[in-house]
Formats: sequence, structure tokens, C-alpha cells
Amino acid sequence: MNTENEKLSAYEKAAKEGIDPRCIPQYLTEPVPEGDSIVYPYYSDEEHETWRILFNRQMSLLSGNVCEEYMHGASLMHFSDKKIPALRDVSRSLQKATDWKIARVPGLIHEKDFFELLKRRIFPSTDYIRQRHELDYTPAPDMFHDVFGHTPLLTNPNFAEFYQEFGIASLRAKPEQHILLERFHWFTVEFGLINTQKGRQIYGAGIISSLNEVTHSLSDKVTVHKFEIEKIINQEYEVWHLQPVLFAIDSFEQLENGFAEWAKSEGLLE
Ligand SMILES: [Fe+2]
Repeated sequence: MNTENEKLSAYEKAAKEGIDPRCIPQYLTEPVPEGDSIVYPYYSDEEHETWRILFNRQMSLLSGNVCEEYMHGASLMHFSDKKIPALRDVSRSLQKATDWKIARVPGLIHEKDFFELLKRRIFPSTDYIRQRHELDYTPAPDMFHDVFGHTPLLTNPNFAEFYQEFGIASLRAKPEQHILLERFHWFTVEFGLINTQKGRQIYGAGIISSLNEVTHSLSDKVTVHKFEIEKIINQEYEVWHLQPVLFAIDSFEQLENGFAEWAKSEGLLE
């Protein structure tokens, strides 16, 4: 064994191997601040400007393309382009809407810690924002993805219920079921589409926070299947390219009930 390598932290090893350390999940070794105890960090003027550019650009791209449940949630968050929102304020808005909260986490966290938080109706969010040269793409989540992409939909009662149950079910999953749940998460929470009276729209955070996916996901370059869990959990994906295959739900009730039914049949929910 390479003893030199063993002394390195996961981050140092990743950097040595050319992997962006932000992409390596970390275990939480101590409790993370939640809700009102989250301190607003110092952000430079350039970082507030980064938020402003991303927020305005994405909001105009999303107009008419994102589902109304997301837009309603975003209005409850009172996001503004003036400054980076405080996680504490986002947490308060969530608590009022669906009794969810935010915890500030240092980066990508290990899935066990992630599911434990979801089970407690807590969404783990980063508070750092991507650098200016990463405006169009960042390999790991930052607060623009976490806060702008994920939190508005958590104000929707069906989605809020579903996401907690997803956490509970994931904690009970056997090792061979992890990949199935991972795929389910990818094709719903991150890359989900929804059929509405206004046509097909977006609800997945990975699309909402991405410059190129908004237009791509609704174009004829994508094959869209209807929401069928057996199909979703058998659909492979890869993270580095625009998604060629997506799934569309008909409603958030369908997402909640469909997942619960499947998870019960698999013995993952009671
Ligand atoms: Fe995400």
C-alpha cells in the first residue's frame, strides 16, 4: 500500500487524482447549524453580483417553462437580485409553509447523513456560491443550486411529504436498492418534468439551476416517458452531459402517492 497516500485526507487525495474535491461526499462529524442558528457568512461584492447574474438570467429562462408550484414557492422565499439570500430566512419561509427547515452543510455530504436530515424534514444546503468563471457550470452543488434550485418546491405539501418519505425509505434500503433510489431521485427531484395545462414544464432542481438544461429539457432532443416507477429505477444516467431521457409526472400527488406505494411494496415504508 502507498503509505504516503494513506496519510492524505479525502480532499487531498482527490486533488492529487485530479478530482474536484467538492465532488467528494463528506461525513458530518459534528452537528450542523439548523434554522435560526445559521449565521449569514461574509460575501464579497463580486459574490453578490454572481448571485444577481445567475438569478436574473435563470428567472428569465424559467419564465413559462417552470411549474407554478415552483414559482409560488420562490415568491414565498422573497428572493431578490440585490443580495444572496440568508439560509436562516429561507428556513423560516419553509417552516411556515410545510414545517421543513434548512441545515447549513459544508459541501456534498454522505448519503446516510443526507437521508437522516430528510427524515427530519431538514434540507441540507451549502452557503457558498460558485466562482465567477463557473457561472455556466459547476461540478458540485453550491448555494445557487441548493437554494434557488431545491428549496421553493419544498413549500409544496405533496412534494414536502414525498421528500421526507424518500429519506425514510432510503435509510431502510438494502445495498442493492440504493442505486434504484438514486435513479428515482435523479429523474424526479433533480431532473423531473411535469405535465400541466400549460404544457410540459420543469420542476427538477438540476434543470432549474442549469443554464443549458432549461431549454434542452423541453426540446425535441429529449425522449420523455410518463411516470412509471419500474421504468425510472431501471433507467441509467450519467451526470456529465445534457440528459437525453426524462420522465414527466402528471401532478405532485402522483409523485407522492406513486413513490409511497412502490416503497411500501418494497418494504421500505410502513
Ligand atoms: Fe441537487
